[in-house]
Amino acid sequence: MPTSDGAGVSLTRLIGTPELDMLDPFLLLDSIESDDPDDYIAGFPAHPHRGFETVTYILAGKMRHKDSTGREGVIEAGGVQWMTAGSGIIHSEMPEQEDGLLYGFQLWVNLPAKLKMSAPEYREFAAEHIAVETRDGGVTIRVVTGETSLGTRGPVDNVVTEPLFVDVELPAGSRFTEPVPESHGAFLHIIEGNVAVQGSNDDTQVDEGALAVLEGGDRVTLVAGAEGARLLLVAGRRLEEPVARYGPFVMNTQAELMQAAQDYQSGRFVAP
Ligand code: FE2
Repeated sequence: MPTSDGAGVSLTRLIGTPELDMLDPFLLLDSIESDDPDDYIAGFPAHPHRGFETVTYILAGKMRHKDSTGREGVIEAGGVQWMTAGSGIIHSEMPEQEDGLLYGFQLWVNLPAKLKMSAPEYREFAAEHIAVETRDGGVTIRVVTGETSLGTRGPVDNVVTEPLFVDVELPAGSRFTEPVPESHGAFLHIIEGNVAVQGSNDDTQVDEGALAVLEGGDRVTLVAGAEGARLLLVAGRRLEEPVARYGPFVMNTQAELMQAAQDYQSGRFVAP
């Protein structure tokens, strides 16, 4: 769904839409892809978050973040920032470029009730710290978090929802298979090309730009189309807790949401 957020950034919303409200534990997935500065230059000036984690993964371009705990940095192509907002953080996310292509994703991962008010935390890894696995047939897997069946482990660890977040490149006609626990909500997003997802009866073709929800099994098997494919495969343990959400706050109850808004308005979020 095309949408706009922040101070006027043009986005494609893939999760968090009327059609796919959430995919437990994932609350939102946005994609920004544009070489027109008017689409991204306004960025995301200071705004709060409470109760979940935001994951920024950049394919092209640069984003600068700055937050109320005093941290600041630039996420560059191939890098990831895994931010645990916990009890509350105020940050800005602004493009560190005035022209050229900006292409990246933001994923919101929910936190269980017992960790919603935990201390905020940032983890950031540049491209060279993302684990890379290569398989037969020229398949390349960049592992941001989780562990593949061949034992490649991503740098982001100890996330409560035990996520798998991999960026997979498949040459034309190549095959990729990987276990995905049945306890996990899981999806694919096709960055380039297309794949056939093998099902127990028939295959499902998933095209460039599409998001596919994976369910009903403990393994995913993909075969790339004639142009090859690049995709994100993401899975996380379902929390199966009530979700109360309003903008940048995601809690379990309406009362907790009201409290979040009050705490923010009265300046009780983490101060520098
Ligand atoms: Fe944010």
